[in-house]
Parts: sequence; structure tokens; C-alpha cells
Amino acid sequence: MQTVNDIRSTFLNFFARNGHEKVASSPLVPRNDPTLMFVNAGMVQFKNVFTGAEARPYSRAVTAQKCVRAGGKHNDLENVGHTARHHTFFEMLGNFSFGDYFKETAIDLAWTLITKEFGLPKERLLATVYSEDEEAAALWKKVAGLPDDRIIRISTSDNFWAMGDTGPCGPCSEIFFDHGPGIPGGPPGSPDEDGDRFIEIWNLVFMQFEQLAADRRVDLPRPSIDTGMGLERVAAVLQGKHDNYDIDLMRALIEASAEATNSDPDGPHKISHRVIADHLRATSFLIADGVLPSNEGRGYVLRRIMRRAMRHAHMIGARDPVMWTLVSTLVGQMGGAYPELGRAQALISETLKLEETRFKTTLDRGLKLLDEETARLAQGSDLPGEVAFKLYDTYGFPLDLTQDVLRGQGRVVDQPGFDAAMERQRAEARKSWAGSGEAATESVWFEIRDSVGATEFLGYQTEEAEGVVQSIIVDGIPVDEITNWDEYGEVAVVVNQTPFYGESGGQVGDAGFMYKGDAQIEITTTQKKVNDLWVHFGRGIKGTIAVGDTVDLKVDSVRRTAIRANHSATHLLHEALRRRLGDHVTQKGSLVAPDRLRFDISQPRPLTTEDIAVVEAEVNGRIRENAEVTTRLMTPDEAIEEGAMALFGEKYGDTVRVVSMGRDGNRAYSLELCGGTHVGRTGDIGLFKLVGESAVAAGVRRIEALTGADAVAHTALQEKLLAEAAMAAKATAGELPARVTALVEDRRRLEREVSDLRRKLASGGGAAQGAEAKEIAGVKFAGRVLEDMPAKDLKPMADELKKSLGSGIVALVAVNDGKASLVVGVTDDLAGRFSAVDLVRAGSQAVGGKGGGGRPDMAQAGGPDGDRAADALAAIEGALAG
Ligand code: ALA
Repeated sequence: MQTVNDIRSTFLNFFARNGHEKVASSPLVPRNDPTLMFVNAGMVQFKNVFTGAEARPYSRAVTAQKCVRAGGKHNDLENVGHTARHHTFFEMLGNFSFGDYFKETAIDLAWTLITKEFGLPKERLLATVYSEDEEAAALWKKVAGLPDDRIIRISTSDNFWAMGDTGPCGPCSEIFFDHGPGIPGGPPGSPDEDGDRFIEIWNLVFMQFEQLAADRRVDLPRPSIDTGMGLERVAAVLQGKHDNYDIDLMRALIEASAEATNSDPDGPHKISHRVIADHLRATSFLIADGVLPSNEGRGYVLRRIMRRAMRHAHMIGARDPVMWTLVSTLVGQMGGAYPELGRAQALISETLKLEETRFKTTLDRGLKLLDEETARLAQGSDLPGEVAFKLYDTYGFPLDLTQDVLRGQGRVVDQPGFDAAMERQRAEARKSWAGSGEAATESVWFEIRDSVGATEFLGYQTEEAEGVVQSIIVDGIPVDEITNWDEYGEVAVVVNQTPFYGESGGQVGDAGFMYKGDAQIEITTTQKKVNDLWVHFGRGIKGTIAVGDTVDLKVDSVRRTAIRANHSATHLLHEALRRRLGDHVTQKGSLVAPDRLRFDISQPRPLTTEDIAVVEAEVNGRIRENAEVTTRLMTPDEAIEEGAMALFGEKYGDTVRVVSMGRDGNRAYSLELCGGTHVGRTGDIGLFKLVGESAVAAGVRRIEALTGADAVAHTALQEKLLAEAAMAAKATAGELPARVTALVEDRRRLEREVSDLRRKLASGGGAAQGAEAKEIAGVKFAGRVLEDMPAKDLKPMADELKKSLGSGIVALVAVNDGKASLVVGVTDDLAGRFSAVDLVRAGSQAVGGKGGGGRPDMAQAGGPDGDRAADALAAIEGALAG
């Protein structure tokens, strides 16, 4: 038997051998088409290559593309489980020519693959062509040798494929397999074509046009090829099954579901097992591609799929969560072809388990309510919209879940009633918000949020994506379009989906560009308003951008990379600080910018140099470990129980993102609730440098640090300063500390020596410096004027002079920078008769000073008129002579 995995490989390898580049499936969330909910065909990732807007280094490609058809235009959700060929998730195999080969080669390659490689019998195959495409009909005859009666001309849109209202399109040709007369159904185009006998297995689209608007179609630069083969369908044919759910891969999942619920895979719960198998795939692949359950947009589609599957597990009778236990089977089946599944396995399992556990309680109660309500209804009458709304609002029942329950009873929900109830609730929310404090400044955002809905954030997964402009605001007023720089200062733009991070949790908003062809807006920052509306603030507007335009959004990647490093380093720093300083360390504030990080902590005393060295070394050690940084989703309680650091008093939603880094025994080294963007591995941080430690408030210290290139630049600057200092000190860097210590000591010693010498000069060298001691009023008096003598040296000098006089009075006047400083000393034996204080005051007056002070034996004063120093001495002598 050719397994699904064999068939996929055969397909990819066949086209690779024929000159096609094997290209990986694009993620399910389309980055190049903001109007699409999920990727739903293989050509989506090549849309711009067909139109010539994007160039690739190859002109032939082959893919196995993950597709989801749930939500949005193509929605198969409600049919899953009830039919043989509906899936929410499926794989599309396709080969592509971008202006390389066209119809003949496409038909030749397709025919060779299915008849030679897959070995399908020719007589079981037939082809349809667009009624006007005689060329294709002739080729089927020539290349494949199909007889005329097995080339069917179809005139409807079935054989003209278009990706949407706009985009690449062209006539197509489909290959059908005939299961034989034993199965009911007619050939394509016949009244009973919907039967199971003739199954379409492959669609070859001859891409020739681009639809620009409803009435405008232009030729593509060159005719191209886009093909799509549903892997599950072709596997069913190749494995001799009529039902996609009987192929090996789906069967493995169904059996795992049956085993986990201890029930018969083909018994009364057959439909439920199929639903679980299908929804398990959609759920797991969506989570692996970054979608998480929420109440908005893509996240809500995922939640609907999950809850629908959970209802089926409940119907089978499962008491405990089931879906999450099946993830390993899925990874075993598909992880080889899609490695992202294995990488996200833990996240998928935990997200499923969490959603299942939480939904279980309301599911039971909601189903009971629904039973009671339907028991009251007349046979076949609709369920009142109010009841469906209550189930939605209070019990978390997506509308389609309620519809799915009612399907078995032949009932439907009164949809207008449901919509009215929903609108009433929105009006209430508007009213209560209008009364809140936020209203005045933020009302414009609330109104926009109300009319355009939440923004989908794609920035955990990608830094580039397309978005549709929902709203443009200039000076608080919505406008239809904006043109050029001069007219507007700052403009705010809201799009339906964005890779730009909106400022929150201390992490600054992303900057970058928004383009539409040559038109562009430079985005300076991005903020989140009313919780889930991302607002891009821009300047530098060139050209025109209008509401409804599809724009390319490009985050400044260098800046974002630096922000990631600083955010992840903040988490490592937090943990390292706690380990060094103690558990009292909690976050008091945080700023994560591209060029630095700032982290405020509760900490009573300053960090010592050693604290800083230890913390820095610890963070750098964790960086060198290069541990994986992982993100999971949990309830706040679970996260805190696991040891996640949460902010006290912070409001958290139902579920939180938990970021962990490194390991410590069986725990994560760092575990924090965080909505920010992070590096893939700690090694991406590069280097951590703690550059500042200061006080911000009582008991709060502020740490500042750099990472990556900024940390390297900082270190380089320090080294340069060190080299310059070493050069100035005529030492090597290694000798510098000893040299500086020695220089400081030398200087101190020299200062002491100079001061001693001055004193000696002043007291000993009296003849050179001034008058000898003389007798005044019967006591010895020594007076000196000393140029450039530091004032602080006067007192010790006066003491020495007093000693050498034995008994007498000393007056010293020092002149520095034109100012005079005076000291008068009186030996103890004379202190009763003369007051040093009175004498110094007399001297001080002469140099323009006021007052002076001290003790009777030693007093000091000063004055601004240094050039009158001699007068000061004369004044003191005069006072003494009295
Ligand atoms: N794009 C084509 C399809 O989806 C092949 O059917």
C-alpha cells in the first residue's frame, strides 16, 4: 500500500526530478494576503510570483501545502464528520510554473505521474476542460491518448479557477477517477455528478490572467501553471477507498481517538471519531503556526474547532480531556513531513489540555440547559436566538457548536434572534465604556475598535505581512486617505493584521514601514489601544494610502532583534538578581528599548561591585548556555503554581503566555508571564553588560544594562579609555592599578613634604620672610606675610612659631588668589591678657573682612583685600600696643 507519507514523497520527488524546486509549505496564516483567513490553496504563497510582483530564483516549484478551510469564505467546518471528503485541514499537492512551461508540459507531467508513478489504470481516468479551451482538449488526446468521450467540456465556473474576487486566474482542467459502475454517481457535468463514482483528484489551472476588479482582467506577464491535488483524496483512490477517512493516516488518528475513549471506531460514535481526527489536525497545525485560541478572528475559529471536537469527545462519553492525548499520534504520523509540528508539540498538547479542562465544566452545564430548552420546543421548531446567545455568552458555546448539537434533532437556531441579542450586548458594552474614565481621551479608538474589530497580531511569527487599512486618523479625526508629508504631522493607521508589536509590558512598540507600491509611511511607533486595537503612528508620508488599501508592513528588523535581546536579557537579569540578592527582589518597573534595558527592583541597599559582577557573570553564563526560549499558554493560576513570576496587582486574562528560558534541575531557570517578543535561544542575546545601578525611590534600585552590539561597543569604549589612561601613566593596562595607587600615594607624600618645607621656611628662615620677633607692649611679637601659602597651613605654622617664641604673640597673613587669610596665636601664659580673637578681628578689618573667630590662644579670620596684608599686620600691632 502507498501510505499518505509515500504518496507525498512520490509527488515531491517526481517534480523535483523534473526540475522543480521543493518549496516548504507556507504557514497557515497567510502573510501575503490579508484578506484570507487561512491559506486554502497551494498557490497562495506564490500569488505575487504569478503576477510578476515578486521574483524567485526558480521558475518551477513543487509543494505540499497545509490548507485550512474553516472560517472565512471557504468554510467546511459544519460538514466535517458527516461526509466522505470534507476536512477543515487538508494537504494540497501542487506543481507550479512561473512563466516556464504551460499546458502541454503540465498535462504531460500530470499524466506521467498518475499513470506511471502512482500506477492508476488509464481507463479509469477522465479529464474535464473549460468549454472554450480546445487547446487543452486536443492535448489530452495527444499527450494522454484519452478518447473523446473521456474529455468533458464544462462551461461553468467549475472550470475557470480564480483565487478570489481578484488575483491570478485562468481556465482549468480537472482529472477524475472512475470508481466503476458499482458506485452510484455520474460523470462531471451530468445531473448526478455529486455521487461517489467519479472523484476529482487533480486540478490543473492554466494561469493566464490577473483579475484586478470585477470588470477588469489583464494578462499575466507570462502564461503559468498552478495545480492542486488533495492528498487525502488521491490517497483514498490509491488505497482503494471511497472515503478519505479510511486512508491510513486518518485511520490511525481515528483509532487513537477510539482507544483513548475506549469505544469502537466504527460503532455509533463513528462520526465523532472522524470529527476528532480532523479537528485534531486543524488545531495542531494552527497552533504550530502561531494561532492560539481567543475570542477574536483566527483565534476564535481555532477555538470553535477545538470546542466542536470537545463536544464530540463528550458525546463519546469521555470524562477527562482527550484531544491532547492524541497529539503524539499525530506527530508520529505527520511530524516527519512537517517538523514544525514536533517543535510545537508541547505547546499544542498544553493548549489543548487547557482549553479542554476549562471548557468541560461549562460544556456539561450548557448541554443540560440546551436539553431543557429543546424539550420545551415543538417538533422541528427553531431554537430561540436568546438561548443560543446565552449558551454563547455564558457557557462559551460557539454558535456552530449549538447548531451541530441541533443538527441531530433536525432543528436550527433562530439566527436573526441570535444576531439581535449579540447587538444588544455590544450596545451595552458601548454604553458602559462611554461612562468610564478612559472615554474622553480614547473615544476615537473605541469607536474604531467597535466598527473594525480587533487587530490580529502576527508579530510573534513574522516581521513582515500584508494588512488591509481599516482606518486612518489625523489629529483624532478619521480620514479616508492621506497624501504626502507636508500636509500631516503624525498619522495613525489601523490595519486588520500586523506584525508590529504594540507597546506593552515595558517593551516599546515596533517601528518600520508601511508600503503600497511607491507610497509609504514611516512608522515611528506602535501602540495598543482599548486592549486589542494596534495603532501604527507614522510620519514621513510619501504618495497616497487610503482606507481599504492592502499594504505591506515591514518591521524594522534590526531594531526588533535588539529589542528581543533586551527583553530576554531582562528575564535572565531578573532571575540572576533574585538568586544573588534574595526573593524579596520583585519587578517595580521595566523598559525594553532597542538600545538599552532598564529594570527597577525592590531592594533596600545599593548593589555592591561584587553583586554587579556576580549578576553580570550569571546572566552571561546563561547566554553562553544557549538554551531554548519557549512560550506556552496557561491559566494564570497554573503559571504561578509552576513558579512563574507574575506582577502583583496586574490584571491577567483567562490565559497567559508563559516564557521560559534554560533549565535548573527539573524547573525552568526563568519562567515569567510575558506577552513580549523574545530571542529563539539565549545565545542570541550575545553579551550582557550591566552599566548602571542607582536609586529611584526609597527601597527601589534601578539597574541599567546593554546587550549584543551595544554591550560590545560599551566594552570597546571602556577598553579605549583604559588604554589612554595607561598611556598617560606610562604603564601597561595590567600595571595601571598599581601605578595609579603609587601615583596617588606619591602625591600625598609630596604634598606633606611641601607643606613641611613651607612651614620650616616660614618659621626657620625668618630673616628671608619677614621681621624678627620684636617687643611690643612688653611681649614678643612675630608677624609674617606669606605669599601663596595654603590657608590650612597657617595654624600648624602659628603653633610652631609660638613654640619657638616660648612666650609671645604670632600673627600670620597668607595671600592666595588676592585674598587674605589671617591667624593670630597667643602663648598660654599671655592668654589671660591678650585675646587672639580680638587681635585677629583688628587685622581682618584692614583686609576688608568682617569678624573672625576662634579661642583666646588661636583665632582666624579672612578678608578680600590681599594686597593690604601688611596693613593687617600693622593693625594687629596697633591693637597690641593699644
Ligand atoms: N489553485 C487550484 C486549486 O486550489 C489548483 O484548486
